[in-house]
Amino acid sequence: MCPRRVRRNGPAAAVVMVIAAAALAATASAGPRYSSRIVEIETGAIRGIILELNSRHLEPVEVFRGVPYAAAPVGPQRFRPPAAPISWPGTRLADTFGAVCPQRVPDISNRTLALLHMPKGRYHHLKKLIPLLLNQSEDCLFLNIYVPGSGNRGLEAPYAVLVFIHGESFEWGSGNPYDGSVLASYGHVIVVTLNFRLGLLGFLRTRPVGAYKVDTGGDPPSGGNLGMKDIAAGLGWIKRNIGAFGGDPTRVTLMGHDTGAALANLLFVSPSSKGLFRRVVLLSGTALSPWATTHNPDALRLSVGQQTGCLPMPGFTASTSNAPPTATGGSGDDQRKKSPPQDDVDIAPCLRSR
Ligand SMILES: *[C@@H]1O[C@H](CO)[C@@H](O)[C@H](O)[C@H]1NC(C)=O
Ligand SMILES: *[C@@H]1O[C@H](CO)[C@@H](O)[C@H](O)[C@H]1NC(C)=O
Repeated sequence: MCPRRVRRNGPAAAVVMVIAAAALAATASAGPRYSSRIVEIETGAIRGIILELNSRHLEPVEVFRGVPYAAAPVGPQRFRPPAAPISWPGTRLADTFGAVCPQRVPDISNRTLALLHMPKGRYHHLKKLIPLLLNQSEDCLFLNIYVPGSGNRGLEAPYAVLVFIHGESFEWGSGNPYDGSVLASYGHVIVVTLNFRLGLLGFLRTRPVGAYKVDTGGDPPSGGNLGMKDIAAGLGWIKRNIGAFGGDPTRVTLMGHDTGAALANLLFVSPSSKGLFRRVVLLSGTALSPWATTHNPDALRLSVGQQTGCLPMPGFTASTSNAPPTATGGSGDDQRKKSPPQDDVDIAPCLRSR
């Protein structure tokens, strides 16, 4: 995945910004009003909150925030595919958003400087968005559910399900800011937003492509794209549990925006997500977008490995650089010969301990 994105302002981006604005209006309301029903899911009982919308045309929605769809990818689980979520005793109150995944948000603290790089509308959007991205933790695999009709099963139940894959970047963002309540109420669908691992934790390929040829200790060969595996795990969770909320697990639509559209497109063509969803909406991006994939993931692995001390710095081993050695003979060459080759090193075990 490519971390650098060129910002474009398209109509689809505008749609999503409206959703974000609705989120801010909703979070500004007073203390939560709890739903009268308790929903039983595979990991325990859960109670949501009722959100009133500021329109007499829109029914209130039942919202479940911060629902864990996978085990926390921390400690020994770091740089591993998501594992099944942990059960809880009693009734979990789903009234608070879960933490967002570790990320570095854009620095717009100097307004003058920021406005040299972006239009005013974008600046104001970021100014509202960034405060919602500051509660960060590696324990971030949560989703949020917006159910129409105050939790009562309406005439349309079971409801179709719309899963929103957030964009902005492969390195920052979260599902939390995108409030699905207006869409759920107006469209009579269940809306789900989710967090997935970002940046190095979510997309670094820690093992080189050729590594499966050597002994990998029984681990699967690929490594990398864990953020996408998180989304697939979220979709698996939805398939197993959304029925309990009044959703129809056979009518799940994936809606990806921007980098999220590339991820939705890649999931759509991936055999591993077969049967998890039925339709896809791509907003402002596809898997063929020039920024959607990276063509040299191993350069990133080497760079990260060297900067974290997991791999020796270049110059101390022959295999890190394609450049011809500058020194002829002498101790430098001896040093290179003694160093182990790096072509096959999975840096995940080392990074797990950082
Ligand atoms: C931050 O997220 C954690 C869940 O990971 C939650 O318990 C806590 O209340 C959140 N803090 C704020 C200020 O939202
Ligand atoms: C903000 O950036 C502008 C443009 O680079 C610079 O002239 C100014 O000194 C900066 N302001 C502060 C407070 O750093």
